[in-house]
Amino acid sequence: MILIRGLALIERTWRRVNIAISDAGYIVKIWRSDYANRYMLSRVEAIYNAKECLILPGLIDVHVHFREPGEEHKEDFSTGTKAALASGVVVIGDMPNNRFPIDNLERFCEKLQIATRSSYTDFFLYLMLTNPNRISETIRKFGSVPVKVYLYDRRTLALLKKELPREAIYVFHAEHPDMVSDHGEAHDAYELDKIRPVEAELRGVDIALRFARERGYRIHITHVSSSEAIRKILDARGSGVRVTFDVTPHHIIFFLEKVDPKSPLYKVLPPIRRREINTGLLRMLAKGLVDVIATDHAPHSPDEKCGDFSEAPPGISGVQYLLPLLYSISKRMHIDFRMLIKMVTENPARIFMIPRRGRIKVGFLADLVIFDHRRKWVIDPDFAFSKAKLTPYNSLVVRGEVVATFLRGRLVYEEGNFLKRIGNYVFAK
Ligand code: DOR
Repeated sequence: MILIRGLALIERTWRRVNIAISDAGYIVKIWRSDYANRYMLSRVEAIYNAKECLILPGLIDVHVHFREPGEEHKEDFSTGTKAALASGVVVIGDMPNNRFPIDNLERFCEKLQIATRSSYTDFFLYLMLTNPNRISETIRKFGSVPVKVYLYDRRTLALLKKELPREAIYVFHAEHPDMVSDHGEAHDAYELDKIRPVEAELRGVDIALRFARERGYRIHITHVSSSEAIRKILDARGSGVRVTFDVTPHHIIFFLEKVDPKSPLYKVLPPIRRREINTGLLRMLAKGLVDVIATDHAPHSPDEKCGDFSEAPPGISGVQYLLPLLYSISKRMHIDFRMLIKMVTENPARIFMIPRRGRIKVGFLADLVIFDHRRKWVIDPDFAFSKAKLTPYNSLVVRGEVVATFLRGRLVYEEGNFLKRIGNYVFAK
């Protein structure tokens, strides 16, 4: 048994506590640190004192692209999950748009094997909706696997009319195919926003909501970039539709008037929006109306991201900076940090039905992040664990740094060092 001591976020309050963790990695007792508990202390083999740092529940990032198998020159499970752990992320959800899409049982099994061999975090994997039968086959074997729906691919619209497995959550990239042009036609970030406008997102959200409302499926809409889309989603939920959503740090932090529009570093889908759209998104965030924050970590190799805007692939990497970015956002925008933490812990665990994660609570797995909120530092690509070193976050001054990460009670990361590799599939039976 080990014991972690310090100021911890427990059910939305900061409490100075002792957290006792069983050998199996579960939290077995939490008690005030000024209370002696001789019986518990006599059973403890090691004590980790967080001192003046904060103890947070481990983060869950439901949207990353670790590119393996097929595009290992951009990222792989080892480098991607190391970057994640360094930000206190203990569970990732990996997207299926690999070089050969993960859309059948065989590819799903292959990816599961690779991830199990090399992940430093725990993980779950998405299936891509290309053929309902193949999805059913995988879900029959693995239980509830989340399904990614790329709406901007026209063929997807017809698939949504078919009978699909009811156990799954359908996660939508909501841009309507009739309202988007190929990203290669845009020469800068302003043009990208014009050819893939907010209206395309709104029409995409309409389709996703209709799918959920009329057919009764459970859906989640990812990387929502506008408050108008959020309002539609919240209204639908108010009338009984089973829908949740996430937003990304890059749509929170950046807006067109603030960035270098010619730089491919800001090229992403959905695009970076204008200031007024960004302001609307921030209002929703500050009011606590956002369900989840997810990075959409979409790595591309440095040479792909330093050329011409129109030729560069879309995507922003940054899973390594999630927690410092959230703390910096909370300070700069006067948003309750505890509320932001809920959006990357408890909420994603509930929505994606990841058992016993996302809270510091007896009976839950001891995923704990030791976070030094007093540090201020500059994001430097030389210390990036991801292969995608070029990100728009480079050179940003951020507040707070992860000192250590515990995954299921094991100290797996400390001050830039990876101590153990124990990553596993979160839905393993
Ligand atoms: O910008 C993006 N990049 N948006 C996506 O939806 C896909 C992602 C990628 O895989 O690179």
